Amino acid sequence: MTFLLLLVTIFLRLTWMNKDYMADIIYAYLNNTGQSLRREQLIFLAKQIRKPMWDWHIYLGYVLVGLFSLRFLLPFFGTLKFQNPLAKNLSLKQKFQKWTYIIFYIGVVVSLVTGLIIV
Ligand code: HEM
Repeated sequence: MTFLLLLVTIFLRLTWMNKDYMADIIYAYLNNTGQSLRREQLIFLAKQIRKPMWDWHIYLGYVLVGLFSLRFLLPFFGTLKFQNPLAKNLSLKQKFQKWTYIIFYIGVVVSLVTGLIIV
């Protein structure tokens, strides 16, 4: 659920709440009413409008960091161990499944760490 909501924030940032798109709307309105702002001012306003939505990206990011930390701590308590794709006697399907998990975990951890670094 956290992941889905985080993806929603990215989706919104790329679509309806895209800063260039919102800046164009403000530009068009001002233009029709005989006013104007410089492009960087339009972008500034667009970012301000987007901010309350994007703040949620960061909140959800922290929640996901917490959840993933739990996921990585659990094997130390003997539950939810990571599965080894190099174990012997695995079928091709099982190998594929286990590698998929490993690649997924690496991808998410890289996203979380880079997210934390940006913050
Ligand atoms: C699975 C985890 C994550 C994914 C998939 C993800 C995805 C993204 C993407 C795609 C962008 C670039 C958006 C764009 O430029 O269009 C971004 C930017 C950003 N993310 Fe994340 N993120 C994740 C985790 C986090 C975490 C954990 C944090 C911090 C707590 C975070 C904070 C940020 C910040 C501050 C930006 C830059 C916003 C800006 O340039 O104004 N992200 N993230």
